Amino acid sequence: MGPELDRYLADVCAEVEAELDRRLPQPADDPLRLWEACRYAMLGGGKRLRPAVLFAAGEAVGGARDDATLAAACALEAVHGYSLVHDDLPCMDDDDVRRGQPTVHCAFGESCALLCGDALLTIAFEWLAEAGLASERPAVFVRAVRVLAECSGAHGMVGGQALDLAVADHALTVPETEALAHQKTAALFRAAALLGGLLGGGDEAALDALERYGEALGVAFQHRDDLIDQSHPDVELGQRARLTELCATARNKVERFGPRGAMLRALAEAIATV
Ligand code: IPE
Ligand code: IPE
Ligand code: MG
Repeated sequence: MGPELDRYLADVCAEVEAELDRRLPQPADDPLRLWEACRYAMLGGGKRLRPAVLFAAGEAVGGARDDATLAAACALEAVHGYSLVHDDLPCMDDDDVRRGQPTVHCAFGESCALLCGDALLTIAFEWLAEAGLASERPAVFVRAVRVLAECSGAHGMVGGQALDLAVADHALTVPETEALAHQKTAALFRAAALLGGLLGGGDEAALDALERYGEALGVAFQHRDDLIDQSHPDVELGQRARLTELCATARNKVERFGPRGAMLRALAEAIATV
């Protein structure tokens, strides 16, 4: 990673962390420790890659990083956070550790973890809609809500999780790992690129390029994660080749933005290296 990208990511992490801290309440009365669980799930960890893609996509189309983009980044990160809380549950991947800490259900109990995920998913849409109410371009936010809903739900991430459970422990071919990653992981990267482009005022051609960038980057990111976790050892070489190819595709999709697309290209280059 170049020092410029390092600085960019550190800056995004700090900004998103502070805003999530500000947005997630800490009520004195929290009987099931629901809000405490939400804060535990969302704060003090995470690479904040989806917010970074969202901001970089906005900058690529000449948009400013403002309160609305920060709200959208927090909303997207809340959906991502919820997906991890539910992904770790005993009925899903049954994982005990996330980001070096006990998972939410281990720390707070299973019913609290279930509700924590529900709360994060719904608050995401509250934040995005609220940003729309404060905006002079409400129609853009209606479209943003639709993008986030579609990418998060059964057409996107949730559908990918269902596919993942359906294939269980079967050995997958590289195309099969990609079909899965396309929904499970790439959908939220697609949302990141599209939300940044939409809020930044990009035209339809720019949005199309950003959507394809997000898709390629997201599938590449899952290959990278699988290679690190050695999830599919039989197809490691194939996944390595596709990782390189997809990151090159992602870079090409955003060539059209010239110097303003530099951060999107740097992110793709960084993800290409395992
Ligand atoms: C983890 O995503 C889940 C996958 C899609 C592989 P990240 O690696 O972006 O998770 P955090 O937010 O940085 O912990
Ligand atoms: C998690 O995928 C992806 C989602 C929650 C959508 P994985 O199960 O592959 O990722 P980790 O290993 O739990 O982070
Ligand atoms: Mg998992």
